Amino acid sequence: MANGRKSRTSSSNPIARWKGKWALVTGASAGIGRALAEQLAASGANLVLTARRVDRLRELADGLAARHGMQAEAFAADLTRPEAPAAIHAFTEGKRIDIELLANNAGFGAFGYTHEIDEARLLDMVQVNCAVVLRLTRIYLPRMVERRSGDILIVASTAAFQPVPFISAYAATKAFDLIFAEGLAEEVRGYGVRVCALCPGSTNTEFQQVAQQPDRAFRSAETADKVARVGLEALAEGKSSVISGGRNRWMVFGERFAPRGFVAKMAAKVMGPESTKS
Ligand SMILES: NC(=O)c1ccc[n+]([C@@H]2O[C@H](COP(=O)([O-])OP(=O)(O)OC[C@H]3O[C@@H](n4cnc5c(N)ncnc54)[C@H](OP(=O)(O)O)[C@@H]3O)[C@@H](O)[C@H]2O)c1
Repeated sequence: MANGRKSRTSSSNPIARWKGKWALVTGASAGIGRALAEQLAASGANLVLTARRVDRLRELADGLAARHGMQAEAFAADLTRPEAPAAIHAFTEGKRIDIELLANNAGFGAFGYTHEIDEARLLDMVQVNCAVVLRLTRIYLPRMVERRSGDILIVASTAAFQPVPFISAYAATKAFDLIFAEGLAEEVRGYGVRVCALCPGSTNTEFQQVAQQPDRAFRSAETADKVARVGLEALAEGKSSVISGGRNRWMVFGERFAPRGFVAKMAAKVMGPESTKS
């Protein structure tokens, strides 16, 4: 225990609990999903990687398998399509892969005035961030319960804890993820199944660009590697949720003592487009 930090040997690596097991990671072509895949592979887990950009997935799967000697499969799916969860399941069934860790990570945001954001984009966001999380969980959970073991990571956000003007719908989707994960964790704990909501704050990924969100929210962003490690370790430890980063934890803690309306007003000042500021 040099300088108060845990020394990391292979036997003390909590991510090694998935060594030799199969994990399904959604949104593995970039950001936090890619980092989850890399850390799981480095600890010896086998992977099914899914996202739309299949070239990236194949390159990642081949590279990880070559480097770490585990097995990795890539499957292209557009999660806005209602048939995507069943197609992913058919793929894993067809390969006789028993999923022991489901990482519900894929998601995106949409910044701006809700009345100006394309309605189809907002509904796609609800589909990917909420409905798909529910459907993939509903697909893979019964086998985990039957087996009396299994793990589910759901990537929520610090945006889940309060209203966030200008990403109002996104924050609401992440509140769904957090509340669903925390409730489910208690439902299935007695069946040996662990569920954890990972709540990152701003993280350096492609998220900002996809959400068309201004730079200022991302000035103190964490790395995807760090966030992925925090999530996997919390899941391995049996936590039902975890906030990545001390600053983010303090922010969420502090907000508990203020009325929600006040927090929303303050958030509007931070998040609002420059043009709305006097
Ligand atoms: N970055 C942040 O500041 C931050 C903060 C809190 C929470 N989060 C959450 O973290 C998770 C991962 O986001 P990230 O930051 O890593 O963003 P990212 O770099 O943009 O990665 C998002 C991933 O989701 C996939 N995805 C998006 N739409 C999809 C669709 N329709 N079908 C299939 N896959 C889709 C993308 O793959 P393709 O484009 O190849 O399909 C990509 O692999 C999300 O749930 C996000 O809400 C992020």
